[in-house]
Amino acid sequence: MAGASIESLRHLSDDADYYVTALDLYNRESRRVQRICEWVDGNLHAMATSMDVTLQKEDSFSVLSVGAGDGIVDHRILGHLRDSAHPQLRAVILEPDSHMMQQYQDLVSKESTKLQGVDLDWRQQTFQEFQATAKEDDKFHFISCINSLYYCGDLEKSLKFLYEKLDSGGLLLITILSAEGGLGKLWQHLSNTSISQRQFTSCYLQETCKKQNIPIAEMQKISIQCDISPCFDHQLSQDGNTLLDFLTHTVNFAQNAPAEYRDDVLRFLGSPECSVRGSGGKVILDASNVAVLIRKQ
Ligand SMILES: C[S@@+](CC[C@H](N)C(=O)[O-])C[C@H]1O[C@@H](n2cnc3c(N)ncnc32)[C@H](O)[C@@H]1O
Repeated sequence: MAGASIESLRHLSDDADYYVTALDLYNRESRRVQRICEWVDGNLHAMATSMDVTLQKEDSFSVLSVGAGDGIVDHRILGHLRDSAHPQLRAVILEPDSHMMQQYQDLVSKESTKLQGVDLDWRQQTFQEFQATAKEDDKFHFISCINSLYYCGDLEKSLKFLYEKLDSGGLLLITILSAEGGLGKLWQHLSNTSISQRQFTSCYLQETCKKQNIPIAEMQKISIQCDISPCFDHQLSQDGNTLLDFLTHTVNFAQNAPAEYRDDVLRFLGSPECSVRGSGGKVILDASNVAVLIRKQ
């Protein structure tokens, strides 16, 4: 397929099994999950206690987790909410991938005491499917979208729906690639191509919120770095290939992208715009996220 057009490249999330493999590798190399968990541990308590939510004794605090994945981050958020916001919690867990949902369920059984009293409503479905069937008066006190909003379709529509689904005093927490980080800049660099129109960053999120009069209460940077040296090896290893596929969100990018386009992407990825040189000439990509907090008045 060498020399194929950019338009014919396959988006990573259109190959569900390969997406999971590539995400696992990226998570390992970047320690993304650990960084976000550290942020959650440092901030969730204050966030939960700052919420102005009125609940009767018999009411549950309701949570929606969008694209919860294997649950490592999302179940930690639930634990903090249970400890700090309300002991009686009901959580709808949206995750379309059966393998990841199973991993989340295994984690909950393994750490059963951590989520005691939490009523988990597992939905193996996409956000779009949930959106199509959601009841109008079903509202949530807390909604989390941890690196999942990219996959939920039209951003304007998703944000409008999520904001409407927040109960009064509720909080929407979104983590997304920072437009100022190297990976965010790469996604913006790619954004003129049809393959990557689904890959937006904090900048587009801010613009979309402004357009819809959705007030952003706070934005906090979560620093994440990833050693991407294997993406520049002359003879790409399997890991180098898979990592490059995750970064570009393209299946078999090195083999299938037109040569000129591939070289431009690699040049930009290795440039100071995106990366720094670490010890032994390692190429270290800034893949920082931003945590965006939206409060419903
Ligand atoms: C980058 S992972 C994040 C997973 C988890 N929240 C975390 O931070 O570790 C993106 C998640 O979104 C899920 N996803 C993909 N398409 C989706 C959709 N249309 N609706 C909801 N979730 C989706 C994926 O299966 C995956 O679990």
